[in-house]
Amino acid sequence: MYRQVLHNLSVACLADTTGYGLLENGAVVVTGEDIAWVGAFADLPPEYRDAEPVDLGGRLLTPGLIDCHTHLVYAGNRAREFEQRLEGLSYAEIARAGGGIMSTVRATREASVDELARLARPRLEALRAEGVTSIEIKSGYGLERDAEIRMLQAAGALCAEAGVRCQRTFLGAHALPPEFADCADDYIEHVCDDMMPAAVEAGVVDAVDAFCEGIAFSVPQVRRVFERARSLGLPVKCHAEQLSWLGGAAMSAGLGALSVDHLEYLRADEAPLLARAGAVAVLLPGAFYVLRESQLPPVEALRAHGVPMALATDANPGSSPIFSPLAIMNMGCTLFRMTPLEALAGFTIQAARALGLADRIGSIMPGKAAEFALWDCEHPSELSYRIGFNPCAGVFQGGQWRWRGEAA
Ligand code: NIG
Ligand code: FE
Repeated sequence: MYRQVLHNLSVACLADTTGYGLLENGAVVVTGEDIAWVGAFADLPPEYRDAEPVDLGGRLLTPGLIDCHTHLVYAGNRAREFEQRLEGLSYAEIARAGGGIMSTVRATREASVDELARLARPRLEALRAEGVTSIEIKSGYGLERDAEIRMLQAAGALCAEAGVRCQRTFLGAHALPPEFADCADDYIEHVCDDMMPAAVEAGVVDAVDAFCEGIAFSVPQVRRVFERARSLGLPVKCHAEQLSWLGGAAMSAGLGALSVDHLEYLRADEAPLLARAGAVAVLLPGAFYVLRESQLPPVEALRAHGVPMALATDANPGSSPIFSPLAIMNMGCTLFRMTPLEALAGFTIQAARALGLADRIGSIMPGKAAEFALWDCEHPSELSYRIGFNPCAGVFQGGQWRWRGEAA
């Protein structure tokens, strides 16, 4: 099998979350699509000395970034609502008046699979230009069986064509569609008994999410969705405590959720419960920033209790029209007082945990997939430091380099 030794580089291994695991004058041996060996170049074992040398020019190698919470596939945009929020309307008021998520739903229902993939392609390219090699993409703008399936088909096709690793998440319980106005329990029954099984049958679902919130679904409703998902053998994750406290995070963690996401209104005394359950806290400072939220997630309590913290773009047309993982890392530090190490771990090893894929991706270790981002940086702290400057030289995935700026 083709073997290459990447050398003349620093490697931030992120093998655990206590440090960057920085190797100066490091080397990584790649066999096919897997990492075979990592260490100081001076210690390269004799059996790898005949591997093809690849000189990386003294740059910094990190695990490929993992964006573990996105709504990347949708049609239309919500720039007009952005204006309305600036004129004084709140996100919840716009949603209650039939705008918000529902305005994206109207446009998304009209779009074909090809059209949805075409619209999402430049968004995915923007993420990949900043080092992303794995992404989670949710449905949730169809809110009817076939439109939800089309969104997930588009997500799969888009990522397969780009060679990006993808987790597809069914988010049928994202908002109440107009067909079920005032009948939320009936819609939840439809999600559980019709939409979710059909999407699973179509082979497009890797996980199930729900929006647990006053403007969306209650804790008992989300519990029904998750119990159905678990009965179909699917992992669950939850949009919880974003705009208010309902207790969705604790309920989800109790059902073994991979992650609980947003969490601005999580109570500090719930952190031990998340830690015990092994749920990852996925923090989304982009939505916090765009919605001009003032309630901070209880980061200190999460840190103190050892709850793994991931970061993600939450890329979506409403609350987080942000397609820059580096800007999100900066926001994680500036707004949430995370450290640059926590921010990078949040986009690599902790994000891998949030997807249930930590045995395969998220750190540079023998046996994991060879999926890397290469940076014109001297130190990994630079990745959280700037806004609007992209030092990514390229990504390595599927056994090949995609240099930034080169045609795909
Ligand atoms: O993660 N919170 C709910 N869902 C998205 C927003 C989707 C939208 O506004 O279109 C979020 O912030
Ligand atoms: Fe979201």
